[in-house]
Amino acid sequence: MVAYGLTAQLQANDVILIDTAAHHANIVPWQELAKRTGAVIKPIPLTANAQLDIDAYDQLLACKPKLVALCHVSNALGTVNPINDLIAKAKNAGALTLIDGAQAVAHLDINVQHIDCDFYVFSGHKMYDPTGVGILYGRFEQLNTLTPMLTGGEMIKTVSFDRTEYGELPNRLEAGTPAIAEVIGLGAAITFLQCLPRQDIAAHEQQLMGYLQQQLLSLGDITLYGIAGNPSQNNIGSVAFNLANEHHQDVGILLDQQAVAVRCGHHCAMPLMSELNLAGCCRASIGIYTNKQDIDQFIHALNTVKELLL
Ligand SMILES: Cc1ncc(COP(=O)(O)O)c(C=O)c1O
Repeated sequence: MVAYGLTAQLQANDVILIDTAAHHANIVPWQELAKRTGAVIKPIPLTANAQLDIDAYDQLLACKPKLVALCHVSNALGTVNPINDLIAKAKNAGALTLIDGAQAVAHLDINVQHIDCDFYVFSGHKMYDPTGVGILYGRFEQLNTLTPMLTGGEMIKTVSFDRTEYGELPNRLEAGTPAIAEVIGLGAAITFLQCLPRQDIAAHEQQLMGYLQQQLLSLGDITLYGIAGNPSQNNIGSVAFNLANEHHQDVGILLDQQAVAVRCGHHCAMPLMSELNLAGCCRASIGIYTNKQDIDQFIHALNTVKELLL
């Protein structure tokens, strides 16, 4: 909706900066916008341990990008971007900012005013909600300048055969009958999360994350990706790994046969995989329902896979 809505505001050679670790959902719409307008996409490079390269980012900002699109937390690696600093710098450079918060929203307390971005987006299904619905937060004045991606009923103020006047926000961006059932589900998920002691849960998840990383490393023959600084602080929700040179899919299937579900593949982040020189990897995730026994069961199963394959 944002990428389409900005079409009239971008021109040929305007620069769009994208996080190399971005999910395809935060790449492809910008590519389409670039096709429509002649804008140029520049990926923000990563450091050797797959963190966003701040020096390179600073240099790219010197070319005065029109828009900076970042992920808050990488869905593939679980790495957390220092979003407040990155946004402040982008704003100084005069860029519009969009954060993909899909992987952050279930784990962190998000305050969009504190982050100070222009847009913050996430999908409901990442926060225990049914699929097909999500949230676009935007500054009122920015949302108000977006061209509606869809037009039709509900988004209008008046219609005649000569002209149509669009309604006020949020209606002007929400054509047609809304996803009513999905939004009710989203509301229930938000209530559920807001009723929980979020800080205790975050602390619990981070403790499990430290344990998971440490157990994986002590298993041996495991490569972890995107680990830097204090790993249990730097990564949220997910750990990406491979077992020696084994194919991630083989590892995933053998884990699955032991009732352990990891995701395998490119994680909808092909540019990141090519940057890491990987065909893919496995990803273990932690949610509010995860406990230490789950991690022990996972490590036990992975050890069995290791004995089988190596
Ligand atoms: C970081 C991130 N962004 C975007 C998406 C895509 O969300 P959707 O499928 O709702 O467009 C996902 C996962 O699906 C994700 O993990």
